[in-house]
Amino acid sequence: MTRQSCAEYFGTCPNGEKVSQITLTSGSFSCQILTLGATIRSLLVPDRNGMPVDVVLGYDTLEEYLSRDGYLGATIGRFANRIAGAQFKLNGTTYPLAANDNANHLHGGLKGFSHRIWTVEQLEESSVVLSLHSADGEEGYPGNLTASVCYSLSEAGLTVRYRATSDADTICSLTNHSYFNLSGHDAGTVLEQEIMIHAQNYTPSDAQSIPLGCIVPVEGTPMDLRTPVLIGAGVDSPFPQIKQAKGYDHNYVIDGQAGALRPAAQAFSKATGISMQVSTTLPGVHFYTANFIEPGRKGKGGCAYGPRHAFCLETQHFPDAPNQPAFPSALLKAGQEYDHTTVFAFGK
Ligand code: GAL
Repeated sequence: MTRQSCAEYFGTCPNGEKVSQITLTSGSFSCQILTLGATIRSLLVPDRNGMPVDVVLGYDTLEEYLSRDGYLGATIGRFANRIAGAQFKLNGTTYPLAANDNANHLHGGLKGFSHRIWTVEQLEESSVVLSLHSADGEEGYPGNLTASVCYSLSEAGLTVRYRATSDADTICSLTNHSYFNLSGHDAGTVLEQEIMIHAQNYTPSDAQSIPLGCIVPVEGTPMDLRTPVLIGAGVDSPFPQIKQAKGYDHNYVIDGQAGALRPAAQAFSKATGISMQVSTTLPGVHFYTANFIEPGRKGKGGCAYGPRHAFCLETQHFPDAPNQPAFPSALLKAGQEYDHTTVFAFGK
């Protein structure tokens, strides 16, 4: 494949900005990335018979990406998940942020990184680097920040490397919001798929999904996913944390040392034989069972998505970390580099 053939026109935003789609290939794997939100639009992985299966949810058109909520496949920033009361304090100053989820800040605000057009910096057959400049004060965050995400595809899977620097102290937590269905994006619910999360602890939250601030053991509750279980086994449990969130929507404290690439989670579909192993250098992973995707939402190829039709494994700093002294710090100091990697590896 020539370099030119890897990027094609995808659509034009109402303000005239153009969106491209990049196709990465490596052996029997391929992946489509949009410059809108550095979004993963498709990820084709061979099943047990070597047939390609698209394991992520997405849309056919740019209009749908712009008008639908849910952040399908998008890169989230400057801060993934929620910040309580849409504000945080840093170096003695309180920074008010855009409130876009009740009174809270969610996934970077009104026009977070998921809704910005990223610049293609480097494009090869199996990898791409996209970058973004986020101005001082954008969505309320301090510091001019330059971020990049590098996707590299191999026959082992997809590696995502996030890097960022700022000219003033700020906070930063970048993630990818892919909705996975290892039986295929159009295969219905994931209730029969297995999940395992390498976490002895999680961070419980309130009715608005704001962390309570404590770190508690999963032991003895349906939050315990340390051995593989069917997603359907716990997702409708009356356990208060799960009931309140209408399914799993929780941050797990990944075992081991943050900063080191270590296993975070794994999942498996008996239908296709596809398994996925997620590892990351970040401290947490958010397990979310697509609770807010309404039944009948139109997806790629005209198929219908709905609640529990996918799961997300969003590697991240803990939600609301900037306001929670007991959580690992999400501070990015001026001139320091944010450098985190998440690997989605596939087997069969
Ligand atoms: C998840 C979050 C959910 C919901 C979703 C987007 O990351 O945990 O509560 O906001 O994104 O619909």
